[in-house]
Amino acid sequence: MGLERLELLKMRKEARKILFFDELDSTNSYVKESDEITDGTAVLAKIQTAGHGRMGRRFCSEEGGIYLSLCRKTSLKANELTSLTGMCAVAVSDAIEKVCGVRPCIKWMNDLLINGKKVCGILVENVFGGSDVPEKVVIGVGINVSQPAEAFDGELSGIASSLSLLTGKKADTGELVLAVLDELDAAFDTLNSGKDISDYIKKYREKCITLGKKIHILTSKNGEDPRTAMPAGEEFPSATALGIDEKFGLEVKHEDGKTETLRSGEVSVIQM
Ligand code: BTN
Repeated sequence: MGLERLELLKMRKEARKILFFDELDSTNSYVKESDEITDGTAVLAKIQTAGHGRMGRRFCSEEGGIYLSLCRKTSLKANELTSLTGMCAVAVSDAIEKVCGVRPCIKWMNDLLINGKKVCGILVENVFGGSDVPEKVVIGVGINVSQPAEAFDGELSGIASSLSLLTGKKADTGELVLAVLDELDAAFDTLNSGKDISDYIKKYREKCITLGKKIHILTSKNGEDPRTAMPAGEEFPSATALGIDEKFGLEVKHEDGKTETLRSGEVSVIQM
């Protein structure tokens, strides 16, 4: 990296409030529980001991990844923020493309994949304090950057990988963190100020690998992981993914021909 670039990076790091930790249980939990985190502050940890994803799943958070949570404040109600998760998927894809030169695909709702392997998960959580306007919005991003192949043995085998393994190049973690935070801020500010989000929807549709595929719909009861909660012998309903609507909902056609727009939950793609 040239000196000018390094100076710029240093200035940007100083301008932005980032709290660094060697280890945390979860950066999202830290932001949710802390009373001192202000709008625009990011929390980063080298490892997480209890990193979590959607539906209460564990998010593997060993050294070599980026684990960050950005705190943002809003005057919008939670039901006006539903597009944020999809917009964040586009924002992180933009950052990865800028820094690593490769654009991930998106598996609805917010998994980023390269060559069919998950490289990033995003978890947006709202903290409420008695009204339907959240006190804070926590945008959590986990990116597999430079973990070696052994980190993806066992249950993650064939499912997840790291950017360096997939691109054959070492990614600049510092630059990627700053790019991700800049893109997340831009996405949040666009939604928060009521600006047009159609560019995000267009980019999401262009890279959404779920579209046109036969899928299983994994519905969750009480926030449980549907894969483990499903009684033995039962099957998830299958459908075809038709489109992404204006709020990042997934339009599906069931086997009986009825259509529905999914706004939460998860799907698994039957044929890639
Ligand atoms: C998912 O794949 O379901 C979402 C994973 C989100 C993981 C990130 S890592 C940083 C932040 N802290 C957490 O505990 N989770 C998010």
